[in-house]
Amino acid sequence: MYEISNLPRRSVAFIGSECHPFVKTGGLGDVMYALPRELVRLNCDVRVILPRYACIPKEYQDKMIYRGEFYMDMGMTNRNYYVGIMEYICDGVVYDFIDNQEFFSAGNPYINLVDDIPRYCFFSKAALAALNYMNWIPDIIHCHDWQAGLVPVYLRTLFKDTPVGRARSILTIHNLRFQGIYNIPTIQYWSGLPNEVFNMGALQQDWVNANMLKGGLAYADRITTVSGTYAYEIQTAEYGERLEGHLRYHSGKLRGIVNGIDYGMWNPETDPALAANYGLGNVLDHKMENKLALQKELGLEEDEGKFVIGLISRLTNQKGLDLVSAIIPQVLDGNTQVVVLGTGDKQYEDTFRYYEDTYRGTFSACIQYDEARAHRIYAGADALMVPSRFEPCGLTQLNAMHYGTIPIVRETGGLKDTVEPYNEYTGDGNGFTFDRYEAGLLLDAINRAKTVYFTNRYHWDEVVQRDMAKDVSWGNSARQYKDLYLELTPW
Ligand code: ADP
Ligand code: GLC
Repeated sequence: MYEISNLPRRSVAFIGSECHPFVKTGGLGDVMYALPRELVRLNCDVRVILPRYACIPKEYQDKMIYRGEFYMDMGMTNRNYYVGIMEYICDGVVYDFIDNQEFFSAGNPYINLVDDIPRYCFFSKAALAALNYMNWIPDIIHCHDWQAGLVPVYLRTLFKDTPVGRARSILTIHNLRFQGIYNIPTIQYWSGLPNEVFNMGALQQDWVNANMLKGGLAYADRITTVSGTYAYEIQTAEYGERLEGHLRYHSGKLRGIVNGIDYGMWNPETDPALAANYGLGNVLDHKMENKLALQKELGLEEDEGKFVIGLISRLTNQKGLDLVSAIIPQVLDGNTQVVVLGTGDKQYEDTFRYYEDTYRGTFSACIQYDEARAHRIYAGADALMVPSRFEPCGLTQLNAMHYGTIPIVRETGGLKDTVEPYNEYTGDGNGFTFDRYEAGLLLDAINRAKTVYFTNRYHWDEVVQRDMAKDVSWGNSARQYKDLYLELTPW
């Protein structure tokens, strides 16, 4: 406590579209949960502003307290919209949920762009209006991804002469693939933003379309993304998703800060989902029990001698699943089992179901979203593959390492920054890596992993222990965000 109070205090509003444990579809939800908690430890006063989706579990809905309500005009709709504020406080972080049934009554946070464009225009504006309403004016407004992309734009236009207009803004890119692009009249209609922001330097994408993320990047005081390598990659045509020029133009305010994981949520010593808890000291004794329990749970052949490879992922084009599906028959050599956990594109779901049918007992396809099962795979597998086409940071390789499971990754984005390749001569490194996006190279990396596992278990076990000891917590990265906040508010 003493140390904390010596640090300079800053107030920060996080604005984003998902946050564990209320609503999560991927890593953004983990970051929105973990980073604010860590910032509280660094003497930040943090409020997280989220939509009050109907799909938030009842246990949290019941704990929310009514904080107030007001009506807000929106764009050219000629209507006033209800904005309710429901509040929930947990471990020093205040969560304010923006309530509006019309926009947030769907079962899912993301529906389709036609609906998502108006709802996130509404959300971005309502979040700023709610800060004014509550008279809580933060030093920093920290926005996340395109859903909050209009916030920096509103801040410097419609809100510039209101109290919240004093705040400085940061926009963090978690995934550049999604940008909130729609025709200019529609975005103008819903956002009510002045004509001057619809130019090629800001919101305008081309003759027809506007781009909400692009506008936010232009107006934010700082841009960050979730790894150093991705910060570089997005300025190239290969990874820039057509914004590489815009990002190069703004590169002076762009920085990469790698994600961490929350050691409270991810701790094999206390994790209630596991068959057997373990730590660095006894991982070699207890990991096997988790492997056997996992095989049993999934109907795989129960044999501790098998090499078990996990894959936990949204099943989308980003994640390198076409490489995986191309090599499954070669990977399943009689000594290897593969476990897939994920939902997403039908094409991948069907491929993995087909493999499960064809290779019963050695291939398991869990086409579902299941937190507890994810924890058991991190603990029970020997290796976890993340062969992504692009990966801004990636959290699954961090979870895996922390659970003593060796990552097999493509050298891109945060995967490159967090997994040092195994060196067979010195035994150094954290995992097995490959560079170009080719199925043969993924297979080769898997085979290199197997060779060490089956012929040099001593070295393998050393890597397991090194990975568990590696610092993948939020500590370091949260300090970098705090430094950035201080840089923007140098008083
Ligand atoms: P992305 O954000 O691109 O989906 P990340 O690696 O950053 O990728 O984060 C993914 C997060 O979602 C991790 O916490 C991972 O454990 C979790 N996850 C992904 N798919 C599933 C699933 N089917 N069931 C449970 N957790 C999942
Ligand atoms: C995105 C990225 C992922 C990153 C996560 C959290 O969803 O795809 O790589 O880890 O955001 O920043």
